Amino acid sequence: MLWIDTDMGFDDIVAIMMVAASPRRIAGVSLVFGNAPLEQVRRNAAGAAKLLDWRFPVFAGATTAILGGIETPAHVLGPTGIPTRGKALPDAPPAAPSGALSALVSWLEGLEAPGEILALGPLTNIAILALARPDLIPNIACITWMGGGATRGNHTASAEFNAYADPEAVAIVLANALPLRVVDLDLCRQVLVSPDDLAPLEGLTSPRAKILADLLGAYIDIALTRGRPAMALYDPTAAAAVIDPDAFAFEPVHVTMELAGTHTRGRTIVDQRPHVVPNADWGMRADARRVRELALGALMKAARP
Ligand code: BDR
Ligand code: CA
Repeated sequence: MLWIDTDMGFDDIVAIMMVAASPRRIAGVSLVFGNAPLEQVRRNAAGAAKLLDWRFPVFAGATTAILGGIETPAHVLGPTGIPTRGKALPDAPPAAPSGALSALVSWLEGLEAPGEILALGPLTNIAILALARPDLIPNIACITWMGGGATRGNHTASAEFNAYADPEAVAIVLANALPLRVVDLDLCRQVLVSPDDLAPLEGLTSPRAKILADLLGAYIDIALTRGRPAMALYDPTAAAAVIDPDAFAFEPVHVTMELAGTHTRGRTIVDQRPHVVPNADWGMRADARRVRELALGALMKAARP
């Protein structure tokens, strides 16, 4: 059983489609602010569920970071957190405005064996869970998180967005020894989508295919408008690490979260020196062809009428 925690951007939606197309069962989904304020994230989740006929339960979580601020990439993704070329997710009534913590607690309490979490946004909901119910930490087998980076950032020169949006949450997760497996920016940048990948989707005629092709095109446009030929598949790469772990190589490292730097707040410091005691597994290599096939295959499967 898998729990997904997400800020429901387009790449989050593709990641969830990949899990939904795999043999893994989704026990529930919790929402966190991130790609947009939580109210919009709830709308995005409801629209995606309507478009894609998702049946799993969805619960709203944190509206702000642990220290209270809200950071979003609105300057890149626009106010909805999902850029479009003109089409949009359908309107649907969003999930209730809260409930994520109690839903996560009930899920963990009811498990017969430790469960797995796929985290695709700021780690705020997970940090709140760790602080509220430390006794349930042993019930978590693994948290696979898309976040951080060992080299250059994306939201700032130093920091990846999910880490920057709530660095204290990452620090809490690390300080409480949660079993963290990181799929970072550097790894995701090995897995790219380009305009050539749009053609098969654009060849389909269903209304669902039209919306998915539009949103994938707009996602690729993020890179094109910045002079890059292809866009990294961030959250889908993390989903692939859960559903096809053999396509990845992880190594134990020690991660420190930069909380104070004037220019480096939100940076994950990845210490690979042999004498350090590891506190996370860090994704080093991925079979990009396999990850792309899983992501594009899930899109095509969902888009066929
Ligand atoms: C991460 O930030 C979000 O915008 C994406 O959905 C992904 O989770 C990449 O930095
Ligand atoms: Ca995300």
